Amino acid sequence: MRIQKEELKEIMKTKLHKAGLIERHAEMVADVLVHADARGIHSHGAMRVEYYAERIAKGGINTKPNFKFEKTGPCTATFDGDNGAGHVAAKLAMDEAIKIAKENGIAAVGVRRISHSGALSYFVQQAASEKLVGISVCQSDPMVVPYGGAEPYYGTNPIAFAAPGNDDKFIQFDMATTVQAWGKILHARSKNEKIPDTWAVDENGEPTTDPFDVKALLPIAGPKGYGLMMMVDILSGILLGLPFGSKVSSMYHDLSEYRNLGQLHIVINPAFFTGLSGFMSGISQTMEDLNNIKPAPGFDKVSYPGQRSAEREKEYQENGIEIVDDVYEYLISDTIHNNAYDQKDPFAV
Ligand code: NAI
Repeated sequence: MRIQKEELKEIMKTKLHKAGLIERHAEMVADVLVHADARGIHSHGAMRVEYYAERIAKGGINTKPNFKFEKTGPCTATFDGDNGAGHVAAKLAMDEAIKIAKENGIAAVGVRRISHSGALSYFVQQAASEKLVGISVCQSDPMVVPYGGAEPYYGTNPIAFAAPGNDDKFIQFDMATTVQAWGKILHARSKNEKIPDTWAVDENGEPTTDPFDVKALLPIAGPKGYGLMMMVDILSGILLGLPFGSKVSSMYHDLSEYRNLGQLHIVINPAFFTGLSGFMSGISQTMEDLNNIKPAPGFDKVSYPGQRSAEREKEYQENGIEIVDDVYEYLISDTIHNNAYDQKDPFAV
């Protein structure tokens, strides 16, 4: 079904508030979630509300967090999220990173002790909207084998980047460092379909095409993706003095426990390097160059990263955002959650 952006945001906010978040935080989380749905990243939008509501209701997200921002150097800071909603802490920390980068040229802000923060594109877009370059990385729960390994160690550890061009357009790259998200395996299970042997491994670390045999996901591009997810875990875990690798908390293990996750925002002010207008013109030129590349057979054009999401956003703005009927029914119902996520082993069949 289709639903207007403001209405979707409102029903998500209401549900999260009913689950226990204060209204301001519920509003901020809903804003991050509706951003994802509006750009077609449905894996990180409305379909996550029930999971968050269950965790909030069971005490695994602090509904009265005492946020603490601490400047640790001219360009560095930490933001302690006190295990409140990750979306809220990550947004507020990015606001601080933006202020520092505007003044000092660059900022690195470590966001400590948070719960899941959703689609990272939201936070790097905050920076790009202020004519700054935004980079954000975060840990997630261990479900990926390191290259050559037969057991999970790292998470799907995403990397996001945004840079402003002219006319309020920006390049925005935001990806998990795994070949496919866990949701794609679940989707294949629900349809009883095979998966390509490049997505995941079985309990022996062998590539599998049977979604029911999956015991871990594979990094993108073998050792290179493995290296990238390691880098993300170091920057958002070890650097911030948080649990890392296989010690990172599971999304589903115990919904009454805090997750203590980390995220790192880096913001660069182009005005301190090549000058703002030259930088933004360069980004616009890059977008145009890429769009003018001769398409390969089977493609109608080359898109720059983030372009398809921006086009989706425009279409959804006109016609409403597409969401799953069941998700809508849940959002407008009186049910806070259906006990569907606690103690769920993601690899169990
Ligand atoms: P994806 O595979 O849908 O897209 C990855 C990137 O490739 C995007 O920047 C997209 O613009 C670009 N892209 C895709 N097709 C393209 C094309 N034809 N031409 C040009 N560019 C193209 O993203 P993925 O890896 O499934 O991640 C989805 C979301 O999940 C992200 O927002 C990420 O931040 C989030 N995530 C969050 C986690 C967390 O713990 N908070 C963990 C893992 C992912």
